[in-house]
Amino acid sequence: MSKEKLAIDGGSPVITEGIPGGMHGPTVIDHQEIDAVTAVLKSQKLFRFCENSNVAAFEQQACEHVGVKHSLMVNSGTSALVCCLTGVGVGPGDEVIVPGYTYISTAASVVGVGGVPVITEIDESLGLDPKDVEKKITPYTKAIIPVYMQGVPARINAIMEIAKKHNLKVVEDCCQCIGGRYKGKYVGTIGNAGAWSLNYYKVITAGEGGLVLTDEYEVYEKSAFASDPAMPMWMSESEWQSPPFSRQCYRPSEVLGAIARVQLGKMETILTHTRKLKKAFLSELAEPKGYVRQHVDDPEGDCGISAAIIIRDQDMAHSYAEALRAEGLGAGTAYNDGFPDRHIYKYWDSILDKNSHHPTGYPWKDPAYMGNVEYSRDMCPVTLSILGRALRFGFNMNMEEEHAKLMAAAINKVDAALG
Ligand SMILES: Cc1ncc(COP(=O)(O)O)c(C=O)c1O
Repeated sequence: MSKEKLAIDGGSPVITEGIPGGMHGPTVIDHQEIDAVTAVLKSQKLFRFCENSNVAAFEQQACEHVGVKHSLMVNSGTSALVCCLTGVGVGPGDEVIVPGYTYISTAASVVGVGGVPVITEIDESLGLDPKDVEKKITPYTKAIIPVYMQGVPARINAIMEIAKKHNLKVVEDCCQCIGGRYKGKYVGTIGNAGAWSLNYYKVITAGEGGLVLTDEYEVYEKSAFASDPAMPMWMSESEWQSPPFSRQCYRPSEVLGAIARVQLGKMETILTHTRKLKKAFLSELAEPKGYVRQHVDDPEGDCGISAAIIIRDQDMAHSYAEALRAEGLGAGTAYNDGFPDRHIYKYWDSILDKNSHHPTGYPWKDPAYMGNVEYSRDMCPVTLSILGRALRFGFNMNMEEEHAKLMAAAINKVDAALG
């Protein structure tokens, strides 16, 4: 590729009119969500255990869509993870493997059920590195939480094999990957349980909300008990297979259910658009010189909401980011020192410092815990190195293919000059 004068050096920028900003779920809100919420308000039935419940209908719609037996709507993705972990039997004394690159809620949900998070390296897929997962397994390990960051499938097959070999449970954190698939199966239906977040930033949204997915009735039932201490009152007694227990209340309202139903109906339309954008971007991207593309284990199942490139070294990554900005493409390294991005374990202060809500030091000092997990801010050097060199780009519902191609053209230009 011939070198053109970079905009940062006084050349003409590739992108002159700007790439449209926008999101996924929130950007497609229209009269359908407004009508659905209005109908709930007019009915004055806002409680989820009402006749013709929107929450129940959303749960059923989600089960049918992704092909899973049971689902449970809750009020957030964090709550969904807590319910999944309760469902698969994680509690005091148990260690749970989580990636060093995920929203802090993944680790916090483990603490929430009394378990101890074990922070593990990612690889160039920006998801869990199966080799490091094996290294982190101890006699206390109970479960693994693979996370599908920014809509990209993790190496779930490799992780399932490890889990099988060591008799561990798998809870898929699909909060950022609703509608993503792996080798034809929807993510969240591969492990023992999966969690969606319906918060504002997700593929589909209800403003807030979450969903537990599972094929295992026992996991579903425990999740349900974990989500509402009064659940045994709402469920029919003939449904229970084990004695009810009490935990927290994560019940969603009918308003959330009504929005979620409409948004689920739009999910495949959203994903068709974002996948088209990412395809256009990748088809325009030249053979790289100074970077490698993020490894995507199953490109077909990728939600297409993001793309990442991993530059040879961190200084170069900063130069690429500055040069791209001058070309009209906003990009930052995923890990800028000093910017406390809670998606990077280094900034999970409450976890790394083992802060407890109680003087007993629960869960790290729980008498049931026999392990000795230690944390430090540099404990996952590979993760910090990859994130320090990664540049991430997003695709949204206001963009067209030409914008995605312009993004690739800007990267091609900068790579030809600096790579
Ligand atoms: C990977 C991941 N896990 C869990 C969560 C928690 O979801 P919520 O904010 O709905 O509790 C998020 C939310 O951003 C997330 O990105």
